[in-house]
Amino acid sequence: MLDGDVFTFISKIENLTFKESLEFLAERANIKLPSLENLDSPQERLKKRLYELHKDATNFYHERLYKPLAKIAQNYVKQRRLDNKTLKAFKIGYSGERDELYKFLISRGYTNKEIEATELCFKTDSGNYIDKFRKRLMFPIMDVSGRAIAFGGRRLDENQKTAKYLNSNESPIFLKKNNLFALNLAKKSDSKTLILVEGYMDVISLHQRGVTNAVASLGTALTEEQGKLIRRYSDKVVFSYDSDEAGQNAIARGLDILEKLGIEGKVLQMEGAKDPDEYIIKYGSGRFNLLVDNSISIIEFKVKRLKQNYNLDIASEKIKFLKEVSKLIANIDSKIEREIYINKISDSNEISKEAIYAEINKLLYRNSGQNILEKSIPVKKVEEKKEVTINKAEIEREKMILYFLIKNYDEIGDKIISKVLVDDFKVEKYKKIYNKILEIVNNGNNNIYKEMTNIEDEEFQSILSEVLFSEYEINSVDKFVDDIINNYEKNKLNSRKQEILKEIKIENLSEEEKLKLENELNEIITKLAKIK
Ligand code: UTP
Ligand code: MN
Repeated sequence: MLDGDVFTFISKIENLTFKESLEFLAERANIKLPSLENLDSPQERLKKRLYELHKDATNFYHERLYKPLAKIAQNYVKQRRLDNKTLKAFKIGYSGERDELYKFLISRGYTNKEIEATELCFKTDSGNYIDKFRKRLMFPIMDVSGRAIAFGGRRLDENQKTAKYLNSNESPIFLKKNNLFALNLAKKSDSKTLILVEGYMDVISLHQRGVTNAVASLGTALTEEQGKLIRRYSDKVVFSYDSDEAGQNAIARGLDILEKLGIEGKVLQMEGAKDPDEYIIKYGSGRFNLLVDNSISIIEFKVKRLKQNYNLDIASEKIKFLKEVSKLIANIDSKIEREIYINKISDSNEISKEAIYAEINKLLYRNSGQNILEKSIPVKKVEEKKEVTINKAEIEREKMILYFLIKNYDEIGDKIISKVLVDDFKVEKYKKIYNKILEIVNNGNNNIYKEMTNIEDEEFQSILSEVLFSEYEINSVDKFVDDIINNYEKNKLNSRKQEILKEIKIENLSEEEKLKLENELNEIITKLAKIK
């Protein structure tokens, strides 16, 4: 199984070079690879040294935390209620004064060039080296395979004017956008859900209290790269960021990124504490877990934010709100889900369900000259909660396709026929007609209308006249065709996407198969993004 694809796969998920992947696999299989040392490129040799350097620096800071001179730091961690097990698990440390780390690193044989590459120490004007992190509580940042690659350092004295947190600059082994704090630990948790928080202390405090699936994006908004990393280990992310505007904006962006990647995003609602650390200390893990369970969906989050922009006591604003909300709901693919939200929004905002349905229907056929669906969607049926497999919108869509195919074949025929399969038709009688159209076209005939009306079959003619009597009017046939095609394309892509997301999590899938699925998934996501 150790073929090239495995390396590609490993290097992709672990962010390693080919050489590093080989070592990673060798280490896992307990194989020694001494002769490969010489194959290192200078860049790879440097990276390897920087990993070692970070490991040494982590131990240096960590051991220093337990020394008598670290009394301030020891008091601080006590005050922050970090227990010893946590200090060990996260390798929390305390940085020294002036150039203590620099001297230590030199004593360990690292060169100035290597040290400078980490930016953990820098050269002052006088030509001496000084440590970047001084007298700070140190949090090593590990990559997903558990190697230290950077640090965050918190000041201990609140009265100090310096930044509360200092973070490592980027280096050959640390790209911010590629890492999540504590993912190396959280990936081992049984849960398929990740809790995404803002700060180091939030993660650490949650882990200490049993919430071991917490990770932090470290003050930056979630990136696509981080999203892809998340997808390796989980299918759901619960955001627990600050409730201020910046935090909410970051959540909104993060949710969009996750959605594109096929990861479900939810938002935790917290009251009575400013962040997860404070909350879990105050109320305990049981109540925190309840908040996780009650976190709201992406749609609810968007509706909530939208609502803040309108005064619903004023009729004109309520209408604007209704229109915006309907746009959000119209984008939901699942009919059942749409209904759930329509009910919720109707109940909590004193807006009738009919009004919301009417708005949504208008949107679904935005490009048609008249709102044909307004009358045809059965609001009553929805209220009975009866599950119908084919909804009115689909019926209407199929009818419209036939209508325009028969009347405007020269204009739109090729486009539709190349994209809409017979089996895409859900209404049996319309499927029959579509089949007939294909048959006529295949026989080299393109006066569809004439051929169709010549068919001597009563049942067929009655369906045909039902279709043709609909007399649809649309502003732009082209736009209509694009909508139709996009719709079918989108449905197909979405259902394949769902399939892959399930398949990709199957335990005994080979690495090769996983890579293949992931590539397909990325293609689908790109295609879907283009359609929307
Ligand atoms: P917060 O200011 O919310 O801090 O920043 P916190 O995590 O609650 O920290 P405590 O509880 O006061 O110790 C959230 C995250 O933003 C980044 C850090 O990663 C921090 O954990 N940050 C914050 C910085 O990088 N620099 C700063 O000056 C402040
Ligand atoms: Mn905090």
